[in-house]
Amino acid sequence: MGFRIGVVGATGAVGRNMVEVLEKSDVVVSELRLFASERSAGQTIMFKGSEVRVEVLTEKAMREGFDYLLFSAGADVSRKYAPIAADVGTTVIDNSSAFRMVPEIPLVVPEINGKLLKGYSGIVANPNCSTIQMVLALYRVHDRYQLHEIFVSTYQAVSGAGHKAIVEYERQLTGDMTHNVFPRQIAHNVIPLIGDLKNDISQEEWKMINETRKILNSQSISVFPTTVRVPVRIGHSESVIARTLFPIMSKEDLIETIASGEDVVIHDDIITPLEIAGDDDTHVSRIRLFDAHTFGLWVVADNLRVGAATNAVRILKLHSQLNCASSTESEIEVAEVERR
Ligand SMILES: NC(=O)c1ccc[n+]([C@@H]2O[C@H](COP(=O)([O-])OP(=O)(O)OC[C@H]3O[C@@H](n4cnc5c(N)ncnc54)[C@H](OP(=O)(O)O)[C@@H]3O)[C@@H](O)[C@H]2O)c1
Repeated sequence: MGFRIGVVGATGAVGRNMVEVLEKSDVVVSELRLFASERSAGQTIMFKGSEVRVEVLTEKAMREGFDYLLFSAGADVSRKYAPIAADVGTTVIDNSSAFRMVPEIPLVVPEINGKLLKGYSGIVANPNCSTIQMVLALYRVHDRYQLHEIFVSTYQAVSGAGHKAIVEYERQLTGDMTHNVFPRQIAHNVIPLIGDLKNDISQEEWKMINETRKILNSQSISVFPTTVRVPVRIGHSESVIARTLFPIMSKEDLIETIASGEDVVIHDDIITPLEIAGDDDTHVSRIRLFDAHTFGLWVVADNLRVGAATNAVRILKLHSQLNCASSTESEIEVAEVERR
């Protein structure tokens, strides 16, 4: 036995990572189907020693019924095709922004709110990459001391804007400084704008504000982000200053609290994106306790993995454990998730 799984957007920056993360995971795959547009239909991608042919995405294929479909082909594609798949009983894990703020659709970081997957079927939304690594670094502090305000500046890799953005950046490194993906030249530069502005706040900043509140289940947290694109290929970095409602006991306690987070690694020394590309953990360094209510962190994670593919595969794994295992195993899993 095993799962019938499909990846929509399989040839993209995230989709390729999804196939790699699935391959490395212990998810038992009985059939893997890969979908993209006509542009790359017929290409092949290796999975567990076999070449899998990329197919054109069609409504008919989405009606075939999969156990899981992982979508990473942009919001328009998700809006059109994900509901078709969900209607025939497929669990869709969607990386785009299409459904994240729909109240009845769970927005899941498994380590934090994975229990929402118990008994759920339909579309599950995967949060924005910058938000995932920030909430992973902060969720235990929120559990213990209640977060009140978060001031965050991001240093986001070019791969966060997809394959075309990587191509534009690499072309600029060879001397051709034309640009059409980013609003300015990105090589040798930084750009303090990601997405369009609405009421002076960029799309990426709105995502960090709204998604943080939804994942941490707290509308009272104020988030003040500045999102910035930097000339780094893979790995988003974040400078986070946060304030808590309750006083933090000590710096040691703060460090222990952050370190108790699942898939979170603390470093005494500095940590940089180059060192963590291809890794599945969220890395935290430069921990400072400014006063009893105010602390600072440097948070780094692979945006294509932690921020997208790994989170999606973790959702798949936990969803299958909670809903496909025998009831006794499911109850143990829920108890574990609730203890977190
Ligand atoms: N990059 C990140 O760090 C990141 C993180 C979190 C979430 N996301 C989200 O994940 C999604 C994909 O991002 P990406 O960075 O992987 O983008 P990308 O590199 O541009 O890849 C896009 C993928 O979607 C496919 N596609 C585009 N239009 C399609 C259509 N009409 N029908 C079928 N397939 C189509 C492309 O296929 P072709 O090869 O045929 O063009 C390609 O496989 C976006 O929604 C993005 O917001 C990205």
